[in-house]
Parts: sequence; structure tokens; C-alpha cells
Amino acid sequence: MFNLEIFDIKLETEYLGRNFIYTDEIESTNTELLSNRQLNKKSGTVLLAEKQLSGKGRKDRIWHSAKGLNLTFSILLSNDIVKNINLNYLNLIASLTVSNAIENLYQLKTELKWPNDVLINKKKVAGILTETIIKGSNIERVVIGIGLNLNQISFHGDFNITPTSLKLEAGFDIERENLLAEILNIAEELLDEAVKMPENILNDWRSRCEMIGDKISVTENDKIRTGIFHDIDENGYLLFKSNNTLEKIHFGDVSLL
Ligand code: BTN
Repeated sequence: MFNLEIFDIKLETEYLGRNFIYTDEIESTNTELLSNRQLNKKSGTVLLAEKQLSGKGRKDRIWHSAKGLNLTFSILLSNDIVKNINLNYLNLIASLTVSNAIENLYQLKTELKWPNDVLINKKKVAGILTETIIKGSNIERVVIGIGLNLNQISFHGDFNITPTSLKLEAGFDIERENLLAEILNIAEELLDEAVKMPENILNDWRSRCEMIGDKISVTENDKIRTGIFHDIDENGYLLFKSNNTLEKIHFGDVSLL
């Protein structure tokens, strides 16, 4: 059971998570917040599910998470909040937020992997899926979905990166309420920072990404290429160097060689 009282005491935000929806089972927290249902309309709404029946990952993958042990939740942001933020930054903000929260609370060293995975000891502890509804030239809503492994200690299935959890890395049980509140507190600060000093988001993200300068392979639509992870550009796209030419990669999976 998620203890709403503990969560509420730790939550220091103005708008993120102030409309908090807690549910036992759902298809996908992202899908639910993307739908038009009245209860989900408020900007800053957070939907947390103990179990997702069809949890979505990037590139049509499935996000598996054991019931009640981890955090699987989505944040709804409407135009009022995102209108002055480069949408590509939302992935960077989300991964940076999770990374900062883990380092603040548990002193575990995290690493960010482009575009938006959070790793500990080269293993994946969190994944992020950002989805947007655009009507005409207006952003109607953005949903940031975060799956973070906390107390799960065994993982079954095929994974493109070996999974881990905070419990496996830290060696103790992790309190879900405290961590979720910390994530929302930091996310609200970083969303504000992205409006005022967007370059800070890029620089903080770069400082947590250990792949910059390394030889990598990039997989885009089943095509695998090798080159150097040169940097991320001002939009958060990957600058990939191969045969001495720089190229922007918008989507894809990267692996170290
Ligand atoms: C990935 O690494 O492939 C992204 C995983 C994102 C999973 C989260 S769990 C909460 C939210 N709801 C979903 O259906 N997916 C995201």
C-alpha cells in the first residue's frame, strides 16, 4: 500500500502531484492520462499505479514491473506549463530529476544514457516515456511516464539493457513515498529552470552522461551504425560522429562498444 500521508508530508510542490490519483491496476498510466477523461485534465496531475497491465516502453516495448514494489507513474503537463519549454527537454528533465533524486536520497552514483535511461553500475534502474498530444499548432498535453525499479530483486524476460533496482544497488528497502515526493519536488524546480536557464538543463544532463566522447553503436529502425557520441545539441538530439561527419540523431538506441 502506498501511504498518502507520508507522501503528502514530503511533497513541497506548488502544482506537481497536488492532484494525485492512486490506483491498484490500470492498463498504462500514460495511456490513461493521454485520454480525455475529465478527472485527468488538471495540469500537474500525477497518476500512480501499483500494477500496469500493458505498461508501455519506448519503441513499442513492454515495461514490466512487479506489483506494489516499484514506482510506475505518469505526470500530466498542459500547455500552461510547457509552452515556454523546448519539448525535447522534457526527457532530459525527467531523467535528470530521477538521477538527482536517487543521488540525494541514497548517495548512489547514477549515469544518464541518451535519450532518457537512468543507469546504476551500467544497469537500467529507470525508463522514461514522454508522449504528446498536439492539436493543430497547439500542444494540448504532454504525459511523462516514469518506471523506476525500487524493491524488485529479480527480473525475468528479454531486456536490451540489464535491469536493476535501487534495493539491489543500495542493499536496503526503499521507501516509495519519500522517493516519489523527492522526484516531484525536483521536477518542478527543473521545469522552472528550463524556462529561465535552459542551458543549465543541457549542461547538467551532459555532466551525468558518461558516454560523451566514447565509441558507440546507434540502432535506428534496425540499422546499426558505429561512431562517436560527440555531444547532445541545443535541442537534446544526439550528435553522432562517423567518418568525420557530424549527424543529428533524433530517435534511436545507443550502446557502448
Ligand atoms: C523505456 O525505458 O522503454 C520507457 C519505460 C517507461 C515506463 C513507464 S511506467 C509508467 C508509464 N506508463 C507506461 O505505460 N509507461 C511509462
